[in-house]
Amino acid sequence: MTTTLPIPALLPTYAPYPFPLVRGEGDRVFDDQGQAWWDFYGGHCVCATGHSHPKVVKAISDQAASLLFYSAAAALPIRDQAATQITAFAGMDSVFFCNSGAEANENALKVALLLTGRKQLAAFQGGWHGRTLLALSVTDDPKITEPFADQLVPTLRLPFGDLVALASADFSGVAGVILEPIQSMAGIKTASKAWFQALRAKCDASGTLLIFDEIQTGMGRLGTPFAAQFYGVRPDLTTSAKGLASGVPMGALLMTAAVAAKLKGGDLGSTFGGGPLACAALLATVEVIESDGLMAHATAAAARLRKELAGSVVTEVLGEGLLLGLRSAHAVALKKHLLAQNLLVGGSGDPQVLRLMPPLNVSTEALQALITAIHAFQPERS
Ligand SMILES: Cc1ncc(COP(=O)(O)O)c(C=O)c1O
Repeated sequence: MTTTLPIPALLPTYAPYPFPLVRGEGDRVFDDQGQAWWDFYGGHCVCATGHSHPKVVKAISDQAASLLFYSAAAALPIRDQAATQITAFAGMDSVFFCNSGAEANENALKVALLLTGRKQLAAFQGGWHGRTLLALSVTDDPKITEPFADQLVPTLRLPFGDLVALASADFSGVAGVILEPIQSMAGIKTASKAWFQALRAKCDASGTLLIFDEIQTGMGRLGTPFAAQFYGVRPDLTTSAKGLASGVPMGALLMTAAVAAKLKGGDLGSTFGGGPLACAALLATVEVIESDGLMAHATAAAARLRKELAGSVVTEVLGEGLLLGLRSAHAVALKKHLLAQNLLVGGSGDPQVLRLMPPLNVSTEALQALITAIHAFQPERS
């Protein structure tokens, strides 16, 4: 006799932590038993200003009470303010608001195909850009891309950060090249400034649009507003989501004036994109990042972790600012040990790299708790 399991009302996606969360405050979350957890995972790199930052909460609740929603069919002063603020912060000229990272990338890639008339894209080994069809085309994760192999746009895939491979690649038919400036899921992989400059030069020479997927690296996380400022290279298009509105769903496609000038009204669109609630959250997020000095804090926190983890089971701290990878031959057991010490960290595609992407205002106490727990870890006992 075959028994069938009941279908859960909530379709399973990720394997969740073994406890439900009911509250968050700053760099901690609390479970339904009142236990506190230091959050170095940040709800998957989303909670840039920490959980329920009072200024963000106030901005959201004030906005909800005055105008919860109106689409782009009406001009909204708060949407104009959000556009002015995020373009200035990112060093770009114009923005299209949408609702998620995948949607921002989907639109960036559509713009590249539309404006160049070319049929090919380029991306990098280990890159991860989302689950919609164009985003899947440029994502290097066979378990989610293979079922759709026939529907994907042809993509030239190059090794990340490799100057020699870049020099010999043929971009003449490539509409757009997309990259995470620091590859997160791949295990916090970085590239040199010289490589970023060579990529910019190659795009200029071939008429290929350069797209930075800054869904994790943006919003102050590297200690600069976006990775573009960190690496000193200005892309044609930048995508943002995750930390953009501190957890209120929002995506943004930022672009240069040259790109914006070629788009016609109606080329892009979204019902919910740029809704007033998300715009209020974005305005408060940028305000908190700037006024609370969170970019300098991210840089200082990373320096402290690098220094104080020396001599521990962590043999290398990868990444920049608060997008960090902890390399350890014992990463799997270390993650379990940290969870037992009420510390949430992320895994990655590299089984030897754990990821840290905490709120940018992660406290001294949280950093100390992590450092102490790592030094106390004894691999042979796990
Ligand atoms: C670098 C990067 N790009 C795109 C995405 C897709 O974003 P979303 O889940 O909001 O669609 C993610 C999500 O993890 C990401 O990390």
